[in-house]
Amino acid sequence: MQIDEILVSAFEKNFPGNDFSAVRALPATDPRFGDYQCNDALKLAKALRANPREIAARVAETLKETGAGVFDKVEVAGPGFLNLVVSPASISSSLAALASSPDCGIPQSGRGKRIVIDYSSPNAAKQMHIGHIRSTVIGNAIDRIFRALGYDVIADNHLGDWGTQFGILIKGYRELLTDGERENLTVANLEKCYVLSAAKAKEEDGVWKDACRKELVKLQQGDAENLALWRRFIDISISEFERMYSMLGIHFDTYRGESYYNDMMPGVVEKLVKAGRAVESEGALVVKFDDERLGVAIVRKSDGGYNYTTSDLACVESRVAEYSPERIIYVTDDRQQLHFRQFFAIAEEMGVKTKLVHVPFGLMSFQGKAISTREGNLIRLDDLLSEAKRRSYDIVKERGGDEKLAEAIGFGAVKYADLSHDPATAIDFSWEKALALDGNSGPYLQYAYARVCSLLKKAEEAGAAGVGDGSFAASTPAEKRLALAILEFPQAVVRAAEAYKPSILADWLFQTAQLYSAFYQTSPILKEESDTRAKRLNLCRLFGEVLRKGLSLLGIETPERI
Ligand code: ARG
Repeated sequence: MQIDEILVSAFEKNFPGNDFSAVRALPATDPRFGDYQCNDALKLAKALRANPREIAARVAETLKETGAGVFDKVEVAGPGFLNLVVSPASISSSLAALASSPDCGIPQSGRGKRIVIDYSSPNAAKQMHIGHIRSTVIGNAIDRIFRALGYDVIADNHLGDWGTQFGILIKGYRELLTDGERENLTVANLEKCYVLSAAKAKEEDGVWKDACRKELVKLQQGDAENLALWRRFIDISISEFERMYSMLGIHFDTYRGESYYNDMMPGVVEKLVKAGRAVESEGALVVKFDDERLGVAIVRKSDGGYNYTTSDLACVESRVAEYSPERIIYVTDDRQQLHFRQFFAIAEEMGVKTKLVHVPFGLMSFQGKAISTREGNLIRLDDLLSEAKRRSYDIVKERGGDEKLAEAIGFGAVKYADLSHDPATAIDFSWEKALALDGNSGPYLQYAYARVCSLLKKAEEAGAAGVGDGSFAASTPAEKRLALAILEFPQAVVRAAEAYKPSILADWLFQTAQLYSAFYQTSPILKEESDTRAKRLNLCRLFGEVLRKGLSLLGIETPERI
């Protein structure tokens, strides 16, 4: 709605020459205060050197003229609040505008801008486990949200596909796998052979460890056989990862792992040395920071090898040169915060102008238990998704639901369980919560959508789907609350993007679905006379559309029948 603009010009008219760009109408916390409240008269009193109540009164007088047709009532309350009651007709016309705009009113503010999102990024030759869910699911939601805003998004999977583990793997592959395993090589076999080989590399005599190191050196020097093996390990890993991603409806534009930047690392270090930024320390090359909290970053180890920092520095230069993105977003767990702070600081010094953003997320525990590699209670992602499907199938089969529906619900439940929380917080995954039909869950929202579809179908069958005059119900308190919430949809998407928190959108979805349910329970639809019925049906249909769009931005499917 244009409410903010009307407010801003009313302030400007009374107090010309001041900056009112921050003036906002906020949804009223209590319906007794109207639909919206504005408290900017209080905030601006000092700057305007006027009494807040007087400011509010003057603005209110103006609003009665300029906002005629939009506001049914403008009131000054308490020390200087403006309480606004919006007219049903103007809400209806805003809803009509939202309904007819192509993307449910999502502003195309990203047009012409490119961004890179680096997410999921598992290590190759290992199976994905539940520890990989968060980066994958949060990253993908951010990816979808930015695309919806019109950004040209490059989703890049920064695989961990280079490093010492490949010497261990190659040696293990040659000597610890059977012919059959080598022929039908799977990621599970690679993982097994890594574990066995790494254990042998710990043996006292050091013979195995030496042999692993030799394989690694051969690989690094471009030995054809080792390179071919490495390539095969990577290809098998990617196709296994893609099996997971396709279940989750996720697509990456590129899979440029760390190896892609291998040849660029010496150049980066050379640059840092020339600029006097990298200095020698105990045989290694390090970057020191003025800011003590940043500590020291190693860019070349004492054995001459490069590390994670060097590789990310090479990577950022390459991305900037190739794509000229407006920003690059990295989604990883919060234990990598220091790494990103260090590497962003160095990148800036090296002249990288692109905005670099780290979106850190908290740890996930599973059914109240910490997930730990040590204790071996790592649940494979594959198994988790199968279980999600199985559990959902148990729920839907009685109603005639099939496996496809079970996948939509099960996978949606897993995603929403994560996305409904602020990424920065630690979360606990539990099947009960994730699949609860009556709580803040994926299935609850999918069910709300299916109910709208079934209502519209019933209306159609009764010959009552009529759009009427195209207007929307926005008169009763329940209608109004739902209608105003729907109008907030574009802003919810914008705020989710600005904060890199899909949870903002998830909150909006849940709250709006609850308002829908309150409306539905108190407002007869099909039994109503044709005019009211059409207006209410129009409101339901639009709610269904924004719900579907919103869930799609979280990567959650919306089956029409459950
Ligand atoms: N492979 C890393 C890990 O498993 C994540 C990589 C994140 N991206 C990056 N450019 N550092 O933790």
